[in-house]
Amino acid sequence: MMSWELLLWLLALCVLILPLVQLLRFLRADADLTLLWAEWQGRRPEWELTDMVVWVTGASSGIGEELAFQLSKLGVSLVLSARRVQELERVKRRCLENSNLKEKEILVLPLDLTDTSSHEAATKAVLQEFGKIDILVNNSGRSQRSLVLETNLDVFKELINLNYLGTVSLTKCVLPHMVERKQGKIVTVNSIAGIASVPLSSGYCASKHALRGFFNALQCELIKYPGITFCNVYPGPVQSDIVKNALTEEVTKPMKNDIDQSYKMPTSRCVQLMLISMANDLKEVWISDHPVLLGAYVWQYMPTWALWLTSKLGKKRIQNFKDGLDPDLSYILQKTKKD
Ligand SMILES: NC(=O)c1ccc[n+]([C@@H]2O[C@H](COP(=O)([O-])OP(=O)(O)OC[C@H]3O[C@@H](n4cnc5c(N)ncnc54)[C@H](OP(=O)(O)O)[C@@H]3O)[C@@H](O)[C@H]2O)c1
Repeated sequence: MMSWELLLWLLALCVLILPLVQLLRFLRADADLTLLWAEWQGRRPEWELTDMVVWVTGASSGIGEELAFQLSKLGVSLVLSARRVQELERVKRRCLENSNLKEKEILVLPLDLTDTSSHEAATKAVLQEFGKIDILVNNSGRSQRSLVLETNLDVFKELINLNYLGTVSLTKCVLPHMVERKQGKIVTVNSIAGIASVPLSSGYCASKHALRGFFNALQCELIKYPGITFCNVYPGPVQSDIVKNALTEEVTKPMKNDIDQSYKMPTSRCVQLMLISMANDLKEVWISDHPVLLGAYVWQYMPTWALWLTSKLGKKRIQNFKDGLDPDLSYILQKTKKD
């Protein structure tokens, strides 16, 4: 009799403690819980990715550069693409200096993602060099900082041409090769802005929402090829040149000042989580600290509240922008605390 009572008490305790543990885990999370679970107990990137050929676009800085760097340490043959050849050569040297890769295992392949007429030839060049493409990482992209009413239509076109159509075009060039081999992986670096919309980035949000729609539909179309997998990565704020390179009211108008990046997630941590997602075949991953991560959950599950909350916080974001301060969400919260 006593032992049954004890058992019931233990059960009740578990029922109470488990949600508390999950809550604590969530409060400390820097990614969605499926990804953190995979990190805790999943397959390691070095077991899955070594000896592959990986094509990384946007490899000349930020997340793409760090991804190339961490992949090179895993012994992955790399194709590095972006527009700035000198920067790509610098990244190649950095990879060679810190890995066992040989010169011929890293191909620098200049590519303007908006020039879709060049994508077929670029794909052929990679296949000629390595004979296969195991993974395409669609990472090139630019953000935006400007209000809709003050922004030229050309800026919206540029964002769609680069972030959305450029990515779709390159994917369409690489896919037939993967279909022929019945294997391959397409990794696309989306953004939390592809789930949650924020003021000052309307064109960027739209291009990333479009990518989400496209790749989720494509995954369903290719279900008959289980060897071809997709991984859509949704980062929050990560240290990189993304804000410095953001589009503004005019395509040719540069951003005025650089911003404080100290509160953002280190690029190395973001890429570490990306590699775990790739190795564990996760389909959609959110990589961000709070409060942006929490914001993504609110947008996903309570869109009406999310719009109300974003409009409230958005006022401060727009005011910061007009005052020449960093409008980013986390910064707003920090500033609000200090005020
Ligand atoms: N950092 C963040 O907070 C954050 C958050 C969410 C999502 N993301 C996404 O992460 C990806 C990488 O951005 P990042 O943060 O690493 O920023 P970044 O440092 O500015 O890197 C952007 C990369 O895209 C390339 N690129 C820009 N225009 C291009 C074009 N026309 N053709 C080919 N490549 C082009 C740039 O190279 P070139 O200038 O040499 O061409 C650069 O290598 C983007 O898709 C971005 O939307 C970033």
